Amino acid sequence: MQTLESISADRINALFAEVESFTDPDFDGWTRTVFSSPYQEERHWMLRQFKDSGLQNVHVDAAGNIVGVLPGRNPFADPIVLGSHTDTVERGGRFDGVVGVLGALEVVQRFRESGRLLERPLMVIDFFGEEANPFGLTCLGSRSLVGHLAPQDLERINPEGKRLGDTLQAFGMDPSGILGMSTGRPAKWHAYLELHIEQSDSLEKARRDIGVVTAVAGIKRLLARYLGQYDHAGGARMRARKDALLAAASSALVLHEFACGNPGYAVATTTHIDSLQSAQNVVPGKAELRAEVRSTDSAWFTSVDRELTQRVSARAHEFGCDVDLEWFLDNEIVQTNSTLQQNIVDASQSFGLSWMAVPSGATHDSVHISRIAPMGMIFVPSVGGRSHCPEEMTPQRDILNGIRVLEESVRLADKGPLPTL
Ligand code: GLV
Ligand code: MN
Ligand code: MN
Repeated sequence: MQTLESISADRINALFAEVESFTDPDFDGWTRTVFSSPYQEERHWMLRQFKDSGLQNVHVDAAGNIVGVLPGRNPFADPIVLGSHTDTVERGGRFDGVVGVLGALEVVQRFRESGRLLERPLMVIDFFGEEANPFGLTCLGSRSLVGHLAPQDLERINPEGKRLGDTLQAFGMDPSGILGMSTGRPAKWHAYLELHIEQSDSLEKARRDIGVVTAVAGIKRLLARYLGQYDHAGGARMRARKDALLAAASSALVLHEFACGNPGYAVATTTHIDSLQSAQNVVPGKAELRAEVRSTDSAWFTSVDRELTQRVSARAHEFGCDVDLEWFLDNEIVQTNSTLQQNIVDASQSFGLSWMAVPSGATHDSVHISRIAPMGMIFVPSVGGRSHCPEEMTPQRDILNGIRVLEESVRLADKGPLPTL
C-alpha cells in the first residue's frame, strides 16, 4: 500500500530524474550556469512543474524568478514563502538548490492532498542565478527582488568584456525593469523558509538528521593586482627578480594561513592566479589573484580586509613587487530568525528526528530575503560534506526528512504569531 511518504518519494525521484537531464554535456557532473541554454531549458520545464503542482498565478518576475502561490483561507494575509535555486556551478552536483525548490513543490502537493488549507498564502520561488557568476555577483534574483541590485551592478564586466546589463538583456530580461523592482511597495512576507543541503560535514559527523541554521556567513571578495618586473627567464638571477606571479602565489598561502588561525568559523579560498602572459620564458611582471573570505565571526569579518591587505602587501614587497587590493562585499553575515529556528526544532522533534544548530558557510538567497522577511533555514546532511562537485550526495531518506520538517515548519509559522525581523 502506498503511504504519504512513498508517494512523496516517487514524486521527488521522478522530478530529480527530469531536472538532472538539463545539463551542459561539455562538463562532468551537472552544469546549468546562469545565462546558459541548459538553464534556460530547465526554467521552461520548471515553469510547467510549478503549474502542475497546483500553484496559481505562476509567472516569471522582472528579475527572472519563477513564482507561484497556493492560496490560503485568508487571501489578504502576508504569505509564507519557500524558495531556493536550480542553477549550478560548473561541474556541480544534483542537490545544491534543487532540493529546496523540488522540496517546496512537494510541500505544496502535500498541503493540497491533505485538504487542510493554510490560513496564509504559500508562495514558492525558484530564484534566478543564485551561484557566483563571471560578473562576480551571487543571488541575482533574490538580490533584485529586495531592491538590492544597484545600477552600477549592471555595469559589471565579465572576463570577455561583456556588461551584466547587456547579458541580462540577451537572456530576455529587461534591466530597467529589474532596477524598477525596488521602487514599488516593498513586499511584506510573514516568513521565508529555505530547505538546503548542508554542503559541509557537521551533520554527518554528529549523526544528526536536521541542521537548524543559526547564521549565514558573510563574504568578501578580493581582486589583487601585482606589479613586478618582466625579465628573461634564463638570464635574470634569482635574487634580482621581481616575480609578480610568485608574489601572488605566496599571497594565496597568506590568505590560507590567516583563515586557519581563526578558532571559529572562517575560510579563505584563492580561486584564480593569472600571470596575464602566454610566454613560458619570461619572468612574470604582472599578475592577478582572485579570492574570497567568509566567516560568521563578526569581529574577524569586519577587520579581515584590513588585516589581509597589510599582510599581503608585506609579502609582495618581500618579492620586490607592489600590489593593489580591491575588496568587494558580497554579503554581510546574516542571523536567522529565532522563532523560525524554534519552529524547525519543534518540527524535527515531532517526527523523532535528531537536530543540531549549524552555521552556513555557503551563501543563499535567504541572505537577501532576510531584508524583507523573518528567515529560517533547514539543512539536511551532505555525504562526506562534499558539494559544488559531481560527488555531491544527499540520500533520499534525508531529503524526505527535510520535506517533512519544512512542511511542519510552515504549519507552525501559519499558526504562530508573527516572527519579528
Ligand atoms: C553558493 O553556493 C555560494 O556559497 O557561493
Ligand atoms: Mn545553493
Ligand atoms: Mn552553490
